[in-house]
Order: sequence, then C-alpha cells, then structure tokens
Amino acid sequence: MDSDFKNYFKKVTKFIRDIYREPEGFIPLHVPVFTGNEKSYLDKCIDSTFVSSAGAYVDEFEEKVVNYTGAVKAVACVNGTSALHLALKLAGVEPDTEVITQPLTFVATANAIRYCGADPVFLDVDRETMGLSPGAFRHWLRDHAEVSGSGEKSEPACFNKATGRRIAACVPVHTYGHPCCIEEIVRICAEYHIPLVEDAAESLGSFFRERHTGTFGAAGVLSFNGNKVITTGGGGMLLFRDKELAGRAKHLSTQARAGHPWEFIHDEVGFNYRMPNVNAALGLAQFEQLPAYLDDKRRIAEQYLAFFSGPAPDSREAGEMPVTFMKEPEGAHANYWLNTILLPDRTTRDEFLAYTNNNGVMTRPAWRLMNKLPMFGQCQSGSLDNAEYLEARLVNIPSSVRL
Ligand SMILES: Cc1ncc(COP(=O)(O)O)c(C=O)c1O
Repeated sequence: MDSDFKNYFKKVTKFIRDIYREPEGFIPLHVPVFTGNEKSYLDKCIDSTFVSSAGAYVDEFEEKVVNYTGAVKAVACVNGTSALHLALKLAGVEPDTEVITQPLTFVATANAIRYCGADPVFLDVDRETMGLSPGAFRHWLRDHAEVSGSGEKSEPACFNKATGRRIAACVPVHTYGHPCCIEEIVRICAEYHIPLVEDAAESLGSFFRERHTGTFGAAGVLSFNGNKVITTGGGGMLLFRDKELAGRAKHLSTQARAGHPWEFIHDEVGFNYRMPNVNAALGLAQFEQLPAYLDDKRRIAEQYLAFFSGPAPDSREAGEMPVTFMKEPEGAHANYWLNTILLPDRTTRDEFLAYTNNNGVMTRPAWRLMNKLPMFGQCQSGSLDNAEYLEARLVNIPSSVRL
C-alpha cells in the first residue's frame, strides 16, 4: 500500500478512536445501548406471563410509533422482512407480477418480493441519496410500461410491455437512513398506478420535508433489528395511512384467526408474524431514548462531516484523497443510522477496509448489488451506473450511539 495512503488511513482510524474515546479496543459498526427502562419493562413483562403475541406492550409500542411518525396505524411484526412480505402482499403483489426496486439494498427487500412469487426489477439509485432514482424510474417506465384497465377489479394498472406482467409495486429504500426523493417517486407511482411500499427499515427518525419516512405510500416498513437505531432484539413494524389495510395486516400477521373468544377458526392462510410482547417491552424502553440517540448520532455525523471535508493539514492527506461524507440530501432530515463515506475507487476502498478492520475499527462495504446475487441474476434491470459507482466506493464507518 502507498505509504501516504496508509498515513491517511491511520489518521482516519485515530479520528474514529477519538470520537468513541476508545484508544485501543475494538470499535464495532453499530451496537445497541441499553441504559433506560429495558430491564424494568422486561421484568414486568415476564412477571405478567404475557411474553408472546398478546400483551399490552405491543399495543403501547405501536401507539408510540404512530404518534411519532404520523402514520394512521402501525402493526408490529417479528422482523422487518416479515413486515415487508405482508406489505407487498397487501399491495397486491402476487405470483407472476413484477416489483420495481433498487439493487443497492439489503437482501431482505428482494427476498420479500420473491416470497410473494414476484420478480424484482432493479433500477438505478441517485448518487446523492443512494435511494431509487426518480429519473431512472420515470425513464424506465416510459420505455417499458403502459397503463391499462385490467388490473385487480378492472382498475387501471401498470403493465410491462415486454413481459405482459403487471407491475404490482415499487419499493424504494431510504438507504442507511438517508431519505430518497420520495415525493417525486410518489408522483410517478400515482401517474402509473403503481402501489408504493417504502422500505424504511433503516430510517426511523428520518424525515422528508417534515414527514416521516415510511408514511408516503400504501405501507412503510421499519426494522428494529439489533443493529438499528432502536432495537427490540428482532422486530419490525408496518406503517399505514389506511385503517382497513392495517386491520388486514394485523389479521394476516396473527394466523388469520377469526374473532371468536375460544374457538380456533382461521378464515384464510395467515402468518405467525406478530411481534411478541417481550420484544415490544424492550422496544418501548428503547423508544423512550430515541430523541437522545438521534441527537448523539447527529453530533457524530457532524464530527465526521467536519473531518472529511476539512482542509488537509499535511501533504498528501484529505485534500489529495477526495473522500466524500454522505450528507443528508436537500429537503431531508436523516437519522444517520450508518455513517457512510465514499473512497476514490475500489482499490482504495479495499485497502481502507483492510486497514481499519485489521486495526480494530469495524467498517463495512456496501451490500453486493442484488442483480449480482445468484438468485436475482436473471432479473430485469435498467442501467445501474450509479449503483455500481457507489458499490465500488462506499464504506460504512462506526455509528453507534455513545454511552
Ligand atoms: C433495507 C432493509 N430492508 C429490510 C431489512 C429487514 O429487516 P429485518 O432484519 O428486521 O428483517 C433490513 C434490515 O435488516 C434492511 O436494512
């Protein structure tokens, strides 16, 4: 490795160690912090014996998330992936339909599409937001899609002209907590009669023009996995604007059990996707600390931003290695879930990953693009120049809330 690069990597590593006041030990990428009422609520939950899919904590947690996000109704699930599956099913995604999404995402987005028997179509992202590009979306639809009146119940629906299959949903992702250009995507979806499901798994606490991510479409999905801004151990939540749809989601998530007080009657094929009360107890305690977590994450992001855009003090340093820190896009308020930098090229990125990980500072590359994974390699895609650009350069750096 070029020794000047090594000096620069050393300087970055030292800066991260200073941020976390950790001169020598291992620094993880994102770990949960349990300093609030977690143990007390878990104790109460265990004492109540209501640890499974019924219990007061689930309702209370949903209520809190509704108030915070401005959604009309929320349905807590076992994880974000199951929530995505339900959201897509309720949007009308079924076998032999197609769903537009971005290739730069965690595999759960594409997997959930496949659970419905549909095929993802991968379209490019914008470099500034890392989320689905409205330009690429519009362009692709203009060339490949037409609206006709033979969708469900003969309502207008969008069809792929080449395959004849219905385009049953669009799933943009608020990547690493940065809101995508969601308003423009809403407009395009409305124009082409495509239901919108937002993958907001990473963006609790992120807003676009004062509106919380995940509340723009037919449904939005949050994740409370252990690596997210707040955690329930494993967990997810569906956000809805339509109460009826939320009711359907809750029904499907609880094995579609019909409302009889003691008989086991199920009126369709349902799922065991409801969040257990014990997870919601943890979530409620975590939720109380969300504002403090978001404040600290913002302070960390500001420190990184100042560092990566500051003047180069020595000869061949920041100035000569143009590292971009991904800032919240115009009009957006990000939660800075995972702080993200772009290195100049793939080789430098690989050297940076090796240096930091070998020196006890955890960093990670972008996910391998979905269209490059064996199970999605045959799927249709548009030109993916920006996704390729980002995949080659992007690195996530430590972003945990500090104690
Ligand atoms: C973009 C994205 N979508 C979906 C998920 C799935 O969430 P979960 O891990 O809770 O199933 C995750 C997170 O893990 C994610 O990052």
